[in-house]
Amino acid sequence: MRKFLIAGNWKMNLGREESLKLARSLVHTLPPDTHAQVAVIPTLAHLDTVTDAISGSPIALGAQNVSSEKKGAFTGEVSAAMLKEFGVKFVLVGHSERRHILGESDSFLNKKVHAVINEGLAVILCVGELLEEREKNKTNDVVGRQLELGLAGVTAAAVEKGLLVVAYEPVWAIGTGRTATKDQAQEVHAFIRQRLAAQFGAASAAGVRIQYGGSAKKSNAQELLAQPDIDGLLVGGASLLADEFVGIVQAAAAAKPGC
Ligand code: 13P
Repeated sequence: MRKFLIAGNWKMNLGREESLKLARSLVHTLPPDTHAQVAVIPTLAHLDTVTDAISGSPIALGAQNVSSEKKGAFTGEVSAAMLKEFGVKFVLVGHSERRHILGESDSFLNKKVHAVINEGLAVILCVGELLEEREKNKTNDVVGRQLELGLAGVTAAAVEKGLLVVAYEPVWAIGTGRTATKDQAQEVHAFIRQRLAAQFGAASAAGVRIQYGGSAKKSNAQELLAQPDIDGLLVGGASLLADEFVGIVQAAAAAKPGC
């Protein structure tokens, strides 16, 4: 049985004080038996503040970005080993904002995937199509290619250790208030699992958590999470509000009892 992973991607929001306040508020309000694994993903600049605030709680720490390199003359970069020193457990790779605004290619992202896994951290590989790609029925082609290139060389052994999470984030649903319907999301999640099965074997693929992201909120979390191949949510805007984020975590308990 896959345990839900509900992660809040704070993006480039919240200063130090605000990050501290939100992290403390989540520590106090999240029920101890959350039915889901919960992670917060603050800006790199406040990893130290947030890691202290959530210390001793079940909330895990994630990072929004990582260097593709291990060490050396890479000004401005932060390595996976450095993230691990902060207590980071999950690292986002391939978020659409990095693909489309910062121009990160699939081959570059593949190096980051390996950098994360080689450090024993879990990668959350984000994939998803643009609106015009969906309208031309290219969703599976785009997502399939992002998986194939992004996961090249990743072993079934790494997957079995739980070091791979995939997040399906249709670009047209991110920050737009327009959520994929539960059926649209489930269809792509099932396709992703099929591709993972082809690469890693059915048993390994069955253990991979596939999150949905894109205007997820308290009011739509339960119906999304009730879908057979939706194993969590990667939440942007709604994760900045304690009440919304806690509501999403609570929705997980009702969505698939027993998860
Ligand atoms: P929103 O929830 O704000 O649409 O953002 C989704 C996202 O990009 C999470 O990584």
